[in-house]
Amino acid sequence: MCGIVGYLGIQNPKTIIIDGLKKLEYRGYDSAGVAIIHDGKTKRIRAQGKLKALEDKVQNEEFNGHVGIGHTRWATHGAPNERNAHPHQVGEISLVHNGIIENYLEIKEELLAQGAIITSDTDSELVAHLIWNEIQKNQNLLQSVQNILKRIVGAFSIVVLWEKSPNELVAFKDGPPLIVGLSKDKSNDEFFIVSDVQAALVHTNRFVYLNDREVVHIKDHSISYYNADGEKLNKPESILDWSTDMVEKMGFEHYMLKELYEQPRSVANAMAPYIDTDTHTVKLTDIGFDAETVFKKIDRVIFVACGTSFYAAMIGKYLIEQICRVPVDTDVASEFRYRRPVIPKNSLVISISQSGETADTLAAVRLAKEHGAELLSITNVAHSSIDREAAGHMYMNSGVEIGVASTKAFTSTLAILNILALQISKARGALAPVSEKQYVQNLLAVPGQIEVVLAYDKYFSEAAEQLKKYKGFLYLGRGVSYPIALEGALKLKELAYMHAEGYAAGEMKHGPLALIDDNMAIVVVAPTDELLDKTISNLQEAKARGGKIISIGTGENKSLKSMSEYYLSLPHSLWTTNPIISVVPLQLMAYHLAHSLGYDVDQPRNLAKSVTVE
Ligand code: M6R
Repeated sequence: MCGIVGYLGIQNPKTIIIDGLKKLEYRGYDSAGVAIIHDGKTKRIRAQGKLKALEDKVQNEEFNGHVGIGHTRWATHGAPNERNAHPHQVGEISLVHNGIIENYLEIKEELLAQGAIITSDTDSELVAHLIWNEIQKNQNLLQSVQNILKRIVGAFSIVVLWEKSPNELVAFKDGPPLIVGLSKDKSNDEFFIVSDVQAALVHTNRFVYLNDREVVHIKDHSISYYNADGEKLNKPESILDWSTDMVEKMGFEHYMLKELYEQPRSVANAMAPYIDTDTHTVKLTDIGFDAETVFKKIDRVIFVACGTSFYAAMIGKYLIEQICRVPVDTDVASEFRYRRPVIPKNSLVISISQSGETADTLAAVRLAKEHGAELLSITNVAHSSIDREAAGHMYMNSGVEIGVASTKAFTSTLAILNILALQISKARGALAPVSEKQYVQNLLAVPGQIEVVLAYDKYFSEAAEQLKKYKGFLYLGRGVSYPIALEGALKLKELAYMHAEGYAAGEMKHGPLALIDDNMAIVVVAPTDELLDKTISNLQEAKARGGKIISIGTGENKSLKSMSEYYLSLPHSLWTTNPIISVVPLQLMAYHLAHSLGYDVDQPRNLAKSVTVE
């Protein structure tokens, strides 16, 4: 939520900042702004709406300074208008902020009592006031920031610019990510401070990840890091080997479509480190901890995640319980963190997060850590906050996911969860070699099967016009297809803004059946398995009441086809990998419906890719 770019260096800050913000627009897109030094003064330009509005506004503006900050906003406090857009400026101080200041009311009252003139409805502006009050006394930016750190409570990453010192930037974080980019040639000629490495990746591959309650001070050609007590820190540098191609659209109309099409490759990449393709076995290696030792001793698995990642966790439960016979709990992270969960000894807490930055998931992981649980994180972003918190790490290896609607990270996660279930079972001596081989061979077939399913692209782009007429969509599935029904409904809601519900097919008669008439489409995920007949009975009940059926089945399923308006046939696969294949048509359907309704597929309204506030 909210993207930050700070720049100090030899290039033109305007171009660097605007280009960086373009890469971060997925984090928030209701307003944007820059503050860049020009002729020794702060020149601040802000615009309501998407980044394009700001880009147009700054196009003909000159900036001759070497330092600046920029921001793309996802509103928390205050409406999404220009007045509330960042940077906020108070006196000689400009500041950009990502997160929430929880004690803002108390600070606001205090500032108002002192006669401060507050010009926005945001919590962020108040921090600028606090720093401005300090700096007038001590004329020291670093000191001023350090002094106010203990005053603010909440989740924040902040970059501060002081007009009087145009070769200096100070940033600090407690919660949302903030990463420092160092000049690629080690000249210390330029520095970047960004919410996500993508914003600086075209300029450098050298990054330093800030931890919570750390402060970074850049002045002239040097950089220093401090903890909250003002003690100097030595921070390790990471070299990132991502290519810039990974963050471009590569000729696709939308990032989401590109990411959908990347799935055969991203799923293959996700599996590659954990599978021996010669022996068709899973590897049990060191993943930060010794996987074999940890998986052998666990008595329980607890998944924590949000949104699409939570639906992946639900599938993880089916996989691990059925293959390993280890009890599994799944929790939405925002519930887990506040319900005083019981975390028994020998629990393995597995967090799933594409971004690795979701605030609730991070808090849930920290809580589990306090309880002494063994932590395994499944993330797409190495070195992200959640990844750094855990001892064990598995990576989605999907490449950058820009579309706000998660697609390739989800399918990669499902592949990882398949592997994890096999690893746990193998570590416990419960996986027969013949079964292992069969499961692994089945997994290796998945990328090719996704290729086949992607052919539905054309089908949905044509069907979208017809599907638009329905007032509501009920998504149904049983077993591992139930979380897929939930995921399909979420995709449709977030992209096409249409009412959609996901239900366990057997639950339909306990309420949702009352919704059904001929304005309701029923999307059913019904692969050929031992539950198929039961699902078909549920569909008969819906069809008898006028519901129109869109079904996804295995091969040529005549009974399913005969009762459906639309029937999509999936390749044959084991139940374990079926969800990876069956979600693809649902992703395509949501994409094409949203597109044909004229909505912004990559940046749906009110949402942001990385939810770093609770
Ligand atoms: O980065 P995370 O996986 O932790 O994100 C969790 C959810 O915010 C995310 O999956 C969200 O539900 C997506 N927009 C769904 O497409």
